Amino acid sequence: MKLLTTNTELREQIAQWRRNGERIAFVPTMGNLHNGHFRLVDVAKQKADRVIVSIFVNPMQFGKNEDLDKYPRTLEADCKGLTAHGADAVFTPTPDMMYPRGLDVQTFVEVPLLGDLHCGASRAGHFRGVSTIVCKLFNLVQPDIACFGMKDYQQVAIIRQMVSDLSLPIEIVGVTTERAEDGLALSSRNGYLTPEQRAIAPKLYQVLQQLRSTIIAGNHDYRSLEQQTRLELNTLGFTADYINIANQQDLTLATSPEHEKVILAAVSLGKTRLIDNIEI
Ligand code: PAF
Repeated sequence: MKLLTTNTELREQIAQWRRNGERIAFVPTMGNLHNGHFRLVDVAKQKADRVIVSIFVNPMQFGKNEDLDKYPRTLEADCKGLTAHGADAVFTPTPDMMYPRGLDVQTFVEVPLLGDLHCGASRAGHFRGVSTIVCKLFNLVQPDIACFGMKDYQQVAIIRQMVSDLSLPIEIVGVTTERAEDGLALSSRNGYLTPEQRAIAPKLYQVLQQLRSTIIAGNHDYRSLEQQTRLELNTLGFTADYINIANQQDLTLATSPEHEKVILAAVSLGKTRLIDNIEI
């Protein structure tokens, strides 16, 4: 696997693959890779001739009091895993390469409406940071397809909207959430959990599954269900940020049984923020 550390090296590699007529799949990540990321690489490999992964802990998507500094950087282990899964190249830009003029004067991409809901309401500027970096990486890599994990349901919806709004010729592939045996959605942030918190964490998915069953059984009093679920999660030891029953189509809050639904959830366990979701 090739390690590409500059924009020039990246562009040369991409140009060479293009000259050979090869189809390119891209997997953007922030590193500290786990089986959820490796699953993205596996899916990307099935869909293209070449797979390139980026590892960049993007400062623009972290709030002032968030975990940018302590976000785990594990490049050596990440490269081993990517090699084992057959990635062709990894691109590891630095903040100076991506934001040479600094974050405050950086041109940005913002997806309205979708970006203001759910996590967007709790983490001001987060999705602006995500869409800006993903747009920049798309421009550098110019892939045919890009793979994202569905654990970040709202992120995938925002990226799909951005690609459509900006007419980017890239197919976005959403890949099913990879879970631990006890149901906890894999996430780099799970590593922050103490053993006690790790024992509580899978209950989030169990509670979402119960809520899903209740809705399927015919309870459509969505706001009351959300409120009851928040209380239940808080009793279990979580601090619920939001539990929202939304329409899959535009992620607005569901008000009637008509459209297909998704339950979106964000909670804290101690200082660790966990998100999960389940389609209905
Ligand atoms: O999902 C992530 O890891 C990040 O938000 C992404 C898409 C790599 C952008 O920094």
